[in-house]
Amino acid sequence: MHATSRAIVTNQPGPHQDLARRVARALTHPLKKPIAEHTRQAFAEAEAWRKTRPQPLILDAGCGVGLSTRRLAHQFPDHAVIGIDRSADRLSRDHGELPDNALLVRADLVDFWRLALAAGWQPARQYLLYPNPYPKAAHLKMRWHGHPVFPAILALGGRLELRSNWRLYVEEFALATEQATGTPLRVEAHQPDNDFLTPFERKYHDSGQSLWRLAVDLPWAPALLPTA
Ligand SMILES: C[S@@+](CC[C@H](N)C(=O)[O-])C[C@H]1O[C@@H](n2cnc3c(N)ncnc32)[C@H](O)[C@@H]1O
Repeated sequence: MHATSRAIVTNQPGPHQDLARRVARALTHPLKKPIAEHTRQAFAEAEAWRKTRPQPLILDAGCGVGLSTRRLAHQFPDHAVIGIDRSADRLSRDHGELPDNALLVRADLVDFWRLALAAGWQPARQYLLYPNPYPKAAHLKMRWHGHPVFPAILALGGRLELRSNWRLYVEEFALATEQATGTPLRVEAHQPDNDFLTPFERKYHDSGQSLWRLAVDLPWAPALLPTA
């Protein structure tokens, strides 16, 4: 299949100069944004579902149409997989029946991650598949590693896998994770071998773009979250 997804265009020559400062700030200043009521409600429903499935948990953050959530549920039949996305439109598209060990949740991740940590969730795996890149330098704070919620993602722990068609995004995420955890990390090329986990993965690959990934094993570390 031929696809024509445009390659990322950025005004950054390398990792953002403000990255280390933003990560340091996120690690020392609590995120004060109040939790939105709709995500609190969505989390309560996810928590009720989770209680009926005590097997190891996988979070598929920013799951889009939920194809990856379905695939992961098939790939890990002894895990419970929760796909989270804020787009009702994407979540409602028909991509086949949802396996019994999968759940799709409409929620804002900035709130969902914090609620999950507060509830003591300890996912075995976390996936961040092709997050919005926000490639302009001015938008660093919208990338997950430049966002004040970043410590909560790391604190949840488990095997975290990030994939992107923008190498710099993955490199910055690796630098931010190294800064927070002290663990040296390596960004790798990702070869999907015609086994695409998400529609974006397929689209970028079919457009001839290179794909990148970072995989890191993180301990459950709620102390990473700054207190007031
Ligand atoms: C580029 S798409 C990738 C979707 C999917 N992972 C894939 O690879 O096909 C990024 C997704 O992240 C979701 N997203 C971005 N910010 C979010 C947030 N704060 N809370 C929940 N979902 C968010 C968007 O709605 C979108 O579906």
